[in-house]
Amino acid sequence: MSDESDPLPSSDAQDELRDESLFFSELETRRRFLKKVAGTSAALALGPQLMNLSAAPAANQKTSLITMVDLQLKINGAEHRLRLDPRTSLLDLLREQLQLTGSKKGCDHGQCGACTVLVNGRRINSCLSLAVVHEGDEVTTIEGLAQGDQLHPVQAAFIEHDGFQCGYCTPGQICSAVACLQEGHAKDDAQIREWMSGNLCRCGAYPNIVEAIKQARDKTGAGR
Ligand code: FES
Ligand code: FES
Repeated sequence: MSDESDPLPSSDAQDELRDESLFFSELETRRRFLKKVAGTSAALALGPQLMNLSAAPAANQKTSLITMVDLQLKINGAEHRLRLDPRTSLLDLLREQLQLTGSKKGCDHGQCGACTVLVNGRRINSCLSLAVVHEGDEVTTIEGLAQGDQLHPVQAAFIEHDGFQCGYCTPGQICSAVACLQEGHAKDDAQIREWMSGNLCRCGAYPNIVEAIKQARDKTGAGR
């Protein structure tokens, strides 16, 4: 027997009630989620202070979180034993720690070639390479190409052919050209352009760079 004073809701009304309760439960879930996110963001923002209230001051925490690593490598013929932050790029090691500022930082993203150096005779973008992976390697930078006052044939050819204007890309261009010749990738203009295409020159000195590389090729016999 049904109770007329408290009738069961119609099926439409039941659907409506269910939708409503779903809506509120979803709202509640969202509120809880947002609270959690807010809590997490605050924790990230406050960082170590929140988690280490009784520990050393923040300045000391920064250094204690990084484990320095030892590295031994040869640069331009000289042995180096170094201790460094493992996140250091080879380019930053050269420029910031060893003051070998010939290698340039153009894009810092492996796109311009200004940071090109030779590692075990092969050209690499030093901005893209962590220094710590070069344990025991031999690195040659633009500073290591000349023999005393005697310029490397590629350096001399760049000067003779005006292979630069502002000069910012030039150390990378020259290191890359040295490797290009060693690789045998300088048979003709098209091949030189192709194998030097990772080195950009915003001054547009490309025709003179190609001429310089051809001269170095013809003088040294490398690159054919
Ligand atoms: Fe390394 Fe541009 S600085 S490629
Ligand atoms: Fe200026 Fe190449 S000489 S960017």
